[in-house]
Amino acid sequence: MLLATSCSNKTEVIANYDVIPLPDKIEVDSAAQGFMFDSGTKIVVASADSAMTRNAELLSEYLGQLTGTTPEITAKETGKAIVLSDDLASGNKEAYELTVNSEKITINGASPAGTFYGIQTLRKSIPQTGDLKVLFPAATITDAPRFAYRGAHFDTARHFFPADSVKVLIDMMAMHNINRFHWHITDDQGWRIEIEKYPELVAKGSMRPNTVIGHNTEEYDTVPHGGYYTKEQVRDIVRYAADRHITIIPEIDMPGHMQAALAAYPELGCTGGPYEVWRKWGISDDVLCAGNDSVYAFVNDVLDEIVELFPGEYVHLGGDECPKTRWKECAKCQARIKALGLKTDKHSTAEQKLQSDFMTRAAEHLAAKGRKVIGWDEIMEGGLTPGAVIMSWRGEEGGRAAAAAGHDAIMTPYQYLYFDFVQSADRDAEPLAASWGDPTPVEKVYNYEPVPAEFTPEQAAHILGAQANTWTEYIPTTSYAQYMMLPRMAALSEVQWSDPAKKDYQDFLRRLPQLVNLYDANHYNYATHVLPSSAKTTASAATASK
Ligand code: ACM
Ligand code: ZN
Repeated sequence: MLLATSCSNKTEVIANYDVIPLPDKIEVDSAAQGFMFDSGTKIVVASADSAMTRNAELLSEYLGQLTGTTPEITAKETGKAIVLSDDLASGNKEAYELTVNSEKITINGASPAGTFYGIQTLRKSIPQTGDLKVLFPAATITDAPRFAYRGAHFDTARHFFPADSVKVLIDMMAMHNINRFHWHITDDQGWRIEIEKYPELVAKGSMRPNTVIGHNTEEYDTVPHGGYYTKEQVRDIVRYAADRHITIIPEIDMPGHMQAALAAYPELGCTGGPYEVWRKWGISDDVLCAGNDSVYAFVNDVLDEIVELFPGEYVHLGGDECPKTRWKECAKCQARIKALGLKTDKHSTAEQKLQSDFMTRAAEHLAAKGRKVIGWDEIMEGGLTPGAVIMSWRGEEGGRAAAAAGHDAIMTPYQYLYFDFVQSADRDAEPLAASWGDPTPVEKVYNYEPVPAEFTPEQAAHILGAQANTWTEYIPTTSYAQYMMLPRMAALSEVQWSDPAKKDYQDFLRRLPQLVNLYDANHYNYATHVLPSSAKTTASAATASK
């Protein structure tokens, strides 16, 4: 890679287009002269579209970070340039074409998002960092994602992560061509988003006095833990993500996983409390009361403020792990079951049907505002909420059943795509992590196939894509979160983006160190299990702080 030192002090390196995720088609013309990127290179963007301007600014930043030269952005073509446009004809809006000759590099997307993925490929093709001149070999790259939904979930409820850390995670997602950030923003252990109509949600619900140590031992630490995002911070994060062509899907998990909200407003629970912001992990029996009209008003009010903050088409309503213990004993819940005429049958219990009714009401409220809902696969119990997208986490069965029945589904089975599990079989060598499932090494993530082999093309079209989830019970810091996500997110990105016919794990491993250079340039922490041993010396293993 290192050619020579030219008359300036810049090191000359050759770009390598074998990046992650692997582009669909890379044709390098080794007989032709390539493009030399140096301090004379400009970025040209003729479009007045603000998304294209942001694309150009981000490309300039990326190049500056890697090469020490931050190119100027202009509107008119002059001399040697990287030219950005967004008028590629393609049925896939995220497609792009990247061409390189001695005079210019062009990146033409089918939309500004497509152009952005071309920018990512160009950035990732630079093999090292420094004071560099980069020779981009003459080439034509045509590329488009396999799936329209390429998700990453992050839980900022079990532990709070400051707004700046959330932005770092968004940058990591963008680097891996991920376009949906599923933000798990409320749970039993903390309510982390300001809702004006219910100020106690953050005043009381965002703070716990201490936290259980390890996997629900008898011992607790002595450190108060809390934090929340103001509306202004949320808007800023939404914008930051949109600049990187990432739509945020907020999750307000209901009717379970609501104990922090109950601590703030105990009248929303079946027993009336008192409740505490939970200090341990697991599934709480205390959930929203489904027999109380003020609970439905609360849900609608919260969703109204959520919709106002998040412009994306989907809101995630959770729906997972909602025990029916309290509902079975609650006079109000039982009265509602009776009034609705819900009866236990061989498919589901009356209480499961009550949850279905609960989810359907919330979904209808959102539908009236032009939004669709996503729910965890439990929402199929007791009758699927009409129009809801199923997020299949307890394996693939929920997603298979939903897609086979003509519903859209997103695959996020815990056996492959839960990044809170350890990444090697040697648990003792791993930091503290979720332990209820098997390890998910990089190779297992890489080899995951979201579309069942027996599906017809019509059924396959209902699999919108795949997502990995990072729950943070045992992940208190951003550095540790990065260690759990990287490089598994690289493997995920090929599941989401690349042609499965070209899947080759050994080839992926060969391409990985170049991406790891970019992790280093951004000071990301990452796991080193699958990296060549030379890389391992530079990476620091995460340590659990609890
Ligand atoms: C989940 O992991 N409870 C969706
Ligand atoms: Zn109740």
